[in-house]
Amino acid sequence: MGKLDIKARNLKFSLSGEDKRNWFAGNPVATAIMDGSSILFPVGETYFINAVVHFRDRIEDPQLLAEVTAFQQQEGIHSREHRRYNNAIKAFGGDVDALEQRLRDEIATWDDNPLFKLAVTCAFEHFTAILADDLLSHPDFMAGADPEFSRIWHWHAIEEAEHKSVAFDVWNKVKPEGFKGYRMRVRAMALATRVFLGQTNYNAGALLKARGEARGWRSLASALHFMFVKPGTLRRTLGHYLAYFKPGFHPWQHDNRATVEKYKAVYEV
Ligand SMILES: [Fe+2]
Ligand SMILES: [Fe+2]
Repeated sequence: MGKLDIKARNLKFSLSGEDKRNWFAGNPVATAIMDGSSILFPVGETYFINAVVHFRDRIEDPQLLAEVTAFQQQEGIHSREHRRYNNAIKAFGGDVDALEQRLRDEIATWDDNPLFKLAVTCAFEHFTAILADDLLSHPDFMAGADPEFSRIWHWHAIEEAEHKSVAFDVWNKVKPEGFKGYRMRVRAMALATRVFLGQTNYNAGALLKARGEARGWRSLASALHFMFVKPGTLRRTLGHYLAYFKPGFHPWQHDNRATVEKYKAVYEV
């Protein structure tokens, strides 16, 4: 099965400045949804690194070991740059630290069995992989967005696509046998779905309110339009999301190498 090389690019982004307030094409709702998901990354990606690295000594395949190292490097830099992103958006309003703490509090309630943590990581990695694929497959997704915000999201998407199977390949080496493994993977996806969509939407709502942009049903209609109509990521990715529930699923069954290669050329990375 063909894969992409995993390369950690140590990039920095300049995301501060009043001109970037509604960085997503002047659209406060789209901006708040993207910012609301960014708030999840520093804590989330640190969790993913720990969950995967826990099983390092169970891996003998040198190729997979090298991929784990590259995954760790990529997620480490993502976490650092989304921390900088989240600090930059504080100027626009919203208690970013409190929203981040909400995720920590949520994680504290989860089963901390290392196998379940790995299954949760696989589920979130599937989310990031399908969102990345949607962004990279639709060049107009971020039309009109601030170039630096567009760049950080495209860079992140490229690297999420590159490492999309690492946690899953580790999972396949260590997972519980038979139906027990499948059941754990599905249970983890149910949790990841609830938390990813629930916290992103909650964060977006809190940011809109703090930024003085909450306008009741108008904001809701705008959010639904963003998610289901244009760009309509949740509608477009539904089939891809559901593929995760196939017993023999593997992330590279969806071969999007050509799409990612095209963007690497655009961004010269
Ligand atoms: Fe990441
Ligand atoms: Fe990732």
